[in-house]
Amino acid sequence: MMAQGNSCRKIVFMWSFDYGQTPPPPEPPMPKQRLLIKGGRVVNDDQSVEADVYVEEGVVQEVGPNLNPKPPNGLTVLDATNKLVIPGGIDTHTHLQFPFMGATSKDDFYTGTKAAVAGGTTMIIDFAIPQKGCSLIEAFNKWKSWADPKVCCDYALHVAVTWWSDKVKEEMKSLVQDKGVNSFKMFMAYKDLYMLCDEELYAALSCCKELGTIAQVHAENGELIAQNTKKLLAMGITGPEGHALSHNEDVEAEATHRAITIANTINCPLYVVHVMSKSSARMITNARNEGKVVYGEPIAAGLGTDGTNYWNENWAHAAAHVMSPPLSPDPSTPDFLMNLLANDDLSVVGTDNCTFDTCQKALGKDDFTKIPNGLNGVEDRMSVVWEKGVYSGKMDENRFVAVTSTNAAKIFNLYPKKGRIAVGSDADIVIWDPEATRTISAKTHHQANNFNVFEGMVCHGVPVATISRGKVVYHDGVFNVTAGQGKYVSRPPFPPYVYERVKQREEVCQPIPVKREPYAGMVSATPVTPT
Ligand code: URP
Ligand code: ZN
Ligand code: ZN
Repeated sequence: MMAQGNSCRKIVFMWSFDYGQTPPPPEPPMPKQRLLIKGGRVVNDDQSVEADVYVEEGVVQEVGPNLNPKPPNGLTVLDATNKLVIPGGIDTHTHLQFPFMGATSKDDFYTGTKAAVAGGTTMIIDFAIPQKGCSLIEAFNKWKSWADPKVCCDYALHVAVTWWSDKVKEEMKSLVQDKGVNSFKMFMAYKDLYMLCDEELYAALSCCKELGTIAQVHAENGELIAQNTKKLLAMGITGPEGHALSHNEDVEAEATHRAITIANTINCPLYVVHVMSKSSARMITNARNEGKVVYGEPIAAGLGTDGTNYWNENWAHAAAHVMSPPLSPDPSTPDFLMNLLANDDLSVVGTDNCTFDTCQKALGKDDFTKIPNGLNGVEDRMSVVWEKGVYSGKMDENRFVAVTSTNAAKIFNLYPKKGRIAVGSDADIVIWDPEATRTISAKTHHQANNFNVFEGMVCHGVPVATISRGKVVYHDGVFNVTAGQGKYVSRPPFPPYVYERVKQREEVCQPIPVKREPYAGMVSATPVTPT
């Protein structure tokens, strides 16, 4: 139950002030926005404790038993008895109002972030994606101008590198220094649209490393997809199953391995976005076992459903699942990916939320290559991971917090402001009921799309209340959000969680030339004569 004390309105005092006359009286203290979460179990990635949480002005002030902040008036109290109190989720991968493949994704920065908070997510990281030849800074500014007036929770922006030149390199530097960007996505697919060749990838990853940023890759071999597609269309396969067949598992695995190899050659940390197949996940697992600095991001859809849907006889149903890389047609893949996530082979769960409704998907009704790629997840991610990960017994509540929030905060240098409940952290907090259940449906979800890839899934684990910077934005199904209340969050380069190892390797792992006496013998003098 939420008990409301005296309301906390901001009071602004104004006066005129003449020099030489009586100075103005000291400013009376502003009434503070204050919140107490009582009686819950505070779960961080490394421990759980029974404790209350006291918040002032959007920041956690105290975590401990039986807190009794004074004065009691003006204090909002939330009862969390028998509930978990967890750091708000961070969705590392969304595409809100993304102009892509002849359409613009349905969820914009308002509906997308509103749905996010309903699901227990308090921060998203979206992607600013320039066309080839266009400015990265302009793309960043454009996406920020779309997001700022609409966001209902905090957000940040990754920026895509879709072409290469000295100007791109300069712009990456200024995005890091002036705009708080510390991650760049490179596409190995979408030939002729966003795809980089290996030489460009090498240059972009080298630049990421120099700047202390996270290099993200969309790992699929775009050339093989183009060749497969030609063959399938020639065979008369035009439906959504053609998407899965043209993006077969090897295509993802090959690119994942290639990206890891290029990154490791440069000693650049690598983050593979939307890991969808067993083979790709194995590449990442092997690389981590070999000590390489690689992170893998499965997505909610890849953990909660599978690619058998591409063979559904209802075209709209099959098309609704089209995304790249595709959901795996092997129905045992979601379980496999969840096991790797539980065991720290994979690190973070995103969503790749990029929703298109049936009419938009129908742009590809006669040709699967024209179906806009993308599906939902931003609202359901936390519940899907709880159901398939925690309720199933694969991971505990602390690992749940790690993969839905803390690891993202560490990798993208937001920690411990985000991803932790501790004194000084932003009060992005969720009261989570692990016993309650809900059934996911497009009829009841808060996303703008008419389809939900988790339709009918019964999930244990329900967010009861979501708090964004100390404000209760969602409680028992009721929203209290204002468009634009979220803030853009700058992310400094060189996240220690990632870069401490990288810097040390740079110092101690350089090849050293063998000291030897110069060769003093004969050198062949035979001229090379053309035959
Ligand atoms: O199908 C997808 N993934 N759509 C969004 C673009 C991307 O590659 O992330
Ligand atoms: Zn991608
Ligand atoms: Zn994406």
